[in-house]
Amino acid sequence: MDYKIAVIKGDGIGPEIIDQAIKILNKIGEKYNHNFQYIEALAGGAAIDKTGSPLPEETLEICRKTDALLFGAVGGPKWDKLKGTEKPEQGLLKLRKKLGLYANLRPAVMFEELKDACPLRADLVKGGLDILIVRELTGGIYFGKKTTMGDKAIDQMEYSKYEIERIAHKAFQIAQRRNKKLVSVDKANVLETSRLWRRTFKEIAKEYPDVELSHMYVDNAAMQLVTNPKQFDVIATENMFGDILSDEASVITGSIGLLPSAALGVNYGMYEPIHGSAPDIAGQGKANPIATILSAAMMLKYSFNLQKESEIIENAVKKALSLGYRTTDIAKNGEQTVSTKEMGDIVTELIGQ
Ligand code: IPM
Ligand code: MG
Repeated sequence: MDYKIAVIKGDGIGPEIIDQAIKILNKIGEKYNHNFQYIEALAGGAAIDKTGSPLPEETLEICRKTDALLFGAVGGPKWDKLKGTEKPEQGLLKLRKKLGLYANLRPAVMFEELKDACPLRADLVKGGLDILIVRELTGGIYFGKKTTMGDKAIDQMEYSKYEIERIAHKAFQIAQRRNKKLVSVDKANVLETSRLWRRTFKEIAKEYPDVELSHMYVDNAAMQLVTNPKQFDVIATENMFGDILSDEASVITGSIGLLPSAALGVNYGMYEPIHGSAPDIAGQGKANPIATILSAAMMLKYSFNLQKESEIIENAVKKALSLGYRTTDIAKNGEQTVSTKEMGDIVTELIGQ
């Protein structure tokens, strides 16, 4: 089969980590007879430098012509002085909005091999963690009306029922394929949008009687994630709560450099590592390419329905870790490390075996 993939390398470590993921996709293509074609596009700081805009129209056109998008990372101190609406991050937010990528899947999985890196007490995470955060990605305070009038600024938080319905369906369907437990996180004791959110989740729950739905306030959820993380399987929440909780969840796995994500719309998916562009280590071969490699694996699973190939990548990554290969971010003091490219080569080789 032929698959067309838009590729946005972005800024900082973006190019070096994307190159590793492409190497792995090519290996999978070679081995299982798929033809992956890549079309590069610009977004973020790299796009600002070349075109003046963090998301040129041409990039959207390329995305619309392809089956999925592989995304590195955007941003960096070079563009810090730009106004909010002109910053590299705007490229990412606009991509999400314009491509209708409303469902953000952020798995937080603890790799057995790296359990020492978990900042929580060992007994709290015994047996490992496997949480999936389903974050609403195109609504809420991120996209509500924004105004500044002198000394007053307003960010409006808005949700329409259909936006909550579609993310609820997505979350229930994912919960059905996992352990059938869904926690919906909101702030329904204070926010109108959260009350609508909770009512809508309760309604949609009737269509999924096999899934156990519970509700939690976001402040409590933030606390429960560090005191009793094993209670969670699938968490569904609105845009900003999901932004915050997914950073928290990722760091308790001890490995933000390992975690991938998917942003899904009706017919399109964008796949990117959870971490940022890490400008401080860009170009030094220190970045961990695994989150991006696993994002490519998610692409195979969710956009191309290539379940087996996706698992082969995941297993190759686990194997590389169990063989003791470490990039600097996950190495313990004194442990020998491999470079970004070496890690990519090792995983590629393991796929070939
Ligand atoms: C994320 C990031 C983005 C967000 C930023 C870069 C706009 O933090 O993907 O979690 O807030 O959504
Ligand atoms: Mg974030």
